[in-house]
Amino acid sequence: MSNDGVNVGRRRFLTAATSVVGGAGAVGVAVPFVASWKPSAKAKAAGAPVKYNVSKVEPGQMVTVEWRGKPVYVVRRTDEILQDLEKVEPLLRDPNSEESIQPAYVDPENRSIKPKLLVLVGLCTHLGCAPMYRPEVGAADLGGDDWMGGFFCPCHGSKYDMAGRVYTGVPAPTNLEVPPYSYENDDVIVIGVDQEGTA
Ligand code: FES
Repeated sequence: MSNDGVNVGRRRFLTAATSVVGGAGAVGVAVPFVASWKPSAKAKAAGAPVKYNVSKVEPGQMVTVEWRGKPVYVVRRTDEILQDLEKVEPLLRDPNSEESIQPAYVDPENRSIKPKLLVLVGLCTHLGCAPMYRPEVGAADLGGDDWMGGFFCPCHGSKYDMAGRVYTGVPAPTNLEVPPYSYENDDVIVIGVDQEGTA
């Protein structure tokens, strides 16, 4: 509707000349004026860190948080999920994250600061689609008994485990990226600020 702002304004001007301006016309002029201030505030926020309260994320649940225009997946892992991480390692391309992007303060195997909470950039490392969260162990369409839950990219079939580590034999070359993040306290994470406090 903001494109219409100019037209609405012009129409108001033209109709004013013939003295038939209604209340709605006046509102139509005011709204675009306010809206014009929004993009600069948005632009400022685009690169800013994002705080997220993780206390309501249930065990096994994934939520998506937007950071710098990217989806960031936050998953509350259970003890069972953490135990299964080791079982899938023979099927993974980079189980120790030696060739993948993640901050140095993140564990290279479970890929988190605190094991129960996983934080990943939700963009496939092949061509950037958003992988789907598929936590069901043994899902028949994803390898049956070999599938311990994880993420599946619908674009070209890449598979990742519950730490975002990529399987072998799929197009994605590396694990899902772990963004810089830190804990402000037990419940609040700050995405975009490193654990040591540097952005
Ligand atoms: S973009 Fe995910 S497999 Fe190609």
